[in-house]
Amino acid sequence: MTVTRLCYRSTLDYSKMTLPLDEEINRLLAYARANNARKGITGALLLAGSTFFQLLEGPDVDVRETFARIRDDSRHKNPVVIDERVDTERLMPHQWLFFTDTMDAYDGVLASLFLPIANTPELVGYDDLVSVMMFSATRVARGFETRDVMRA
Ligand SMILES: Cc1cc2nc3c(=O)[nH]c(=O)nc-3n(C[C@H](O)[C@H](O)[C@H](O)COP(=O)(O)O)c2cc1C
Repeated sequence: MTVTRLCYRSTLDYSKMTLPLDEEINRLLAYARANNARKGITGALLLAGSTFFQLLEGPDVDVRETFARIRDDSRHKNPVVIDERVDTERLMPHQWLFFTDTMDAYDGVLASLFLPIANTPELVGYDDLVSVMMFSATRVARGFETRDVMRA
């Protein structure tokens, strides 16, 4: 079995949001997660300032169909594919769509990882992106949330 993995970045378009950003993202995630679960697509969405980064992985035809739909979404613009490859295993087998906002990184380790991504999104390559997404998803999965850091 193989999976297709596609990573892209795009620019958030505030003018097309009908709700406050948090609500718009929550609505988007609820829809996307239900849809991705139906299709067997896993992955992550990272918001870094006004740049979205997304990793989508799953059956080739479903990843392509989903990305074609996402690309046309008016809530973001100028999508640029960073990488597309076939792999034998998923990187995010337990996440229909893990989400993280770099602005919420009160945790020093994550903040230092996120800074270059938010500052120079055009320089972010596949390896950088995967490292940051995997690291954030693992920390959250292990219960290391920003709340705990702030309380400490
Ligand atoms: C940054 C971003 C990421 C998205 N990710 C997904 C996703 O992973 N899966 C999905 O089904 N829809 C995702 N969407 C939503 C789709 O673009 C689209 O709005 C949704 O599939 C509704 O399409 P429909 O009206 O044709 O049903 C995303 C939208 C944006 C702006």
